[in-house]
Amino acid sequence: MKKAAIAAGVLTAMCVAALTVDYAVMRRWTPLSDARIAALQERAQRDAALAPVLAAEQNRIAEFNRARRKRVNWLSLALIGAAAGFLSASKRVLAAEPEPVRKPERAVAQPAQSLVLKTAPAAPEFDISFVDRLVAQEGRTTDAAIPILHAIQAHYRYLPDEALLRVCELTEITPAQIAGTSSFYKRFRQSPVGDHIVRVCHGTACHVAGARQITDELRRRLAIPEGGDTDPTRAFTIEEVACLGCCSLAPVMMVDEHTAGKLTPATACDALAVKPGERT
Ligand code: FES
Repeated sequence: MKKAAIAAGVLTAMCVAALTVDYAVMRRWTPLSDARIAALQERAQRDAALAPVLAAEQNRIAEFNRARRKRVNWLSLALIGAAAGFLSASKRVLAAEPEPVRKPERAVAQPAQSLVLKTAPAAPEFDISFVDRLVAQEGRTTDAAIPILHAIQAHYRYLPDEALLRVCELTEITPAQIAGTSSFYKRFRQSPVGDHIVRVCHGTACHVAGARQITDELRRRLAIPEGGDTDPTRAFTIEEVACLGCCSLAPVMMVDEHTAGKLTPATACDALAVKPGERT
């Protein structure tokens, strides 16, 4: 189709060029032939012997004009056909061009209104020296266990084993004390958290409005394993939380700092830009 478009384009250009040349030639030739006929007519009035010459010249010019009109008509028809062919072929070539592939963004969109997701703070590179500085600041006694665990959770966004072992090495805090404290407080995480925290409200209003189905569908689409809360790519962590305080929008979820309400399982997945079949 590309070749056809090129051929039609070349033919169009040739027709335009031929018509332009013809027009330029005729602009110069017509006044000259008119002047020649006028001169012959003037001479034929004085000399009757020139009448056949005048008639022959007029016939020659008339024949030339007829041939020219025929040629111009054919060129015009060819030009129209070639231009139409060129436009049609070009349109097909452009339609056949593949569209540039857009990289899907992991933006979160709220079904009712645009929900722009701020990028979650990236987890800092694991740096054990943070624990050393923390212990120096909080102290080495068992009383420092909770402040140290809070600080580690805030820094790494979970409690890495390496950090906890280092705490035990540097302080009087025992592994048993750390295990007891970290399992008692719900905010301490034992595993890495996703880039985005999705809090699905399971308060009474949201529960009645279908929070369970929303959570189950999100977990299914994100391929979150049984007993886990974070998808394998660590993009999202799903949490079930108590009333978020906007029950009139039930069912509700929060994605980092953004709230989305009146959700269905499908719109909740749309809000995370998770397509059916993706990740499953
Ligand atoms: S119960 Fe879900 S926001 Fe109140």
